[in-house]
Amino acid sequence: MRYVSGKLLERWLIVADLPRRKLALSNDPKVVETVMLDRGGVFPKSDVVHDLLVPLIGEGVFGQPGGTRVKETRRIFSRSLATIPDEVMRAVTERLTREYVDRWLRSPGGRVGISEEFSRLTVDVVSEVTLGDRFSEEESIRFTRLFFEYHKKAAALLLMIAHDDVTTRARIIREMGLSPIGAEMRELMLRRFVKPILTGARPLESAPFALALAQSGRMSEGAEGEQALLDEIAVMLLAGHETTASTLSWLASELAGRSDLQDTAAMALSGKSAPGGYWREASPEAVADALAKEALRLYPPIGFFLRETREEAVFRGKQVPAKSFFVIAPWTLHRHRSLWSRPDEFAPMRWLDGSPAPARTSYMPFGLGARICPGARFAAVEMETILRGLLPRARLTLSPGKRAKPLGNLTSRPDREIVLGISERRRADG
Ligand code: HEM
Repeated sequence: MRYVSGKLLERWLIVADLPRRKLALSNDPKVVETVMLDRGGVFPKSDVVHDLLVPLIGEGVFGQPGGTRVKETRRIFSRSLATIPDEVMRAVTERLTREYVDRWLRSPGGRVGISEEFSRLTVDVVSEVTLGDRFSEEESIRFTRLFFEYHKKAAALLLMIAHDDVTTRARIIREMGLSPIGAEMRELMLRRFVKPILTGARPLESAPFALALAQSGRMSEGAEGEQALLDEIAVMLLAGHETTASTLSWLASELAGRSDLQDTAAMALSGKSAPGGYWREASPEAVADALAKEALRLYPPIGFFLRETREEAVFRGKQVPAKSFFVIAPWTLHRHRSLWSRPDEFAPMRWLDGSPAPARTSYMPFGLGARICPGARFAAVEMETILRGLLPRARLTLSPGKRAKPLGNLTSRPDREIVLGISERRRADG
């Protein structure tokens, strides 16, 4: 999607030729419903997703096309997240946000690379809440920088073009250089989280996700057991932090460019919304929710779902052969001119002004159907808590320099560091 834009991407159905296969993309609500929900089994995740992620998450659930094992594993993720009360997520997030914001406010020159910092904060939150520990400062800096490098190199389109040509495909993967990065990230996760769990140094009671895996018989001895545990822990940590960090980075950047909106949001998040003002009488929770939803609309962290067709299908009179790639893209759906009013405008109030909720086929930052995100509640509580801990305390301003764009490889994270000015918000600032 970095290569094509504008009206072409708004078509209800595009079927294009790649060198060896067809590629379909659809924005048609009925087609979206069919591919993601009604006939999801016929449109599993593409194995390109698996191949791009294998150096990092091994055979972890996120890269798997589907089937019974995926259903079972997803149940373990969902069950473990369901056992964690909102108050626990909130307390951990509050404490860590305070620590990070204190440090940001002391940063030299008042400048902070906010995308890296949000990645570090969110990986700390998800690891402390689900595994009872977090990386050291040095480890977390290394981990987030490596993941950024991984993102830059993991270009799905290259693999889609090379598809089925085994030699070219193997060469492309080798040349992308994902394996050494993935190996180093796995080593960091192994040392910090997996080994202490397996040796008993970290009690399972403090690590709800590890406990759920153990209770489901997914914790076994030996090198294979260690790697299998690492695969799923890597999914939890990676899916559970980069998405939230990316949303918060874009949101912070939007607010830094709109001081009026930022000031009223800061007031409203501290419960001081002025009647008749922008936020009317919305509660702090509702304001945080509207800000997050609007950032997720304009910058959905997973900008496209890459599926494959198991059987031939006909949509809108066009034939899509078996073994084609099929893309459903929140990125285009969320900005589609026929589905949204003022689609390109950052307008959080649209979520509070009584307008009808969007159709599930027009707005799906957390996905739809069998592979829908099991961490949506976690993300909502976490983002609300971070916004309430940050905006009433700190004023954000843009820094000079080239503006970041969405990277669009694995996720829509910014393609360069977003550096913001951060200063103490005085009472007079709102
Ligand atoms: C703003 C935050 C988040 C967004 C937008 C988001 C979005 C998504 C989406 C779209 C998928 C499905 C991908 C697909 O169908 O191909 C997904 C999967 C997943 N998410 Fe999230 N997510 C977020 C936060 C989280 C959090 C906080 C956690 C855990 C604490 C989490 C855990 C997972 C897991 C484990 C999967 C894989 C499920 C599977 O493979 O079936 N996510 N997420």
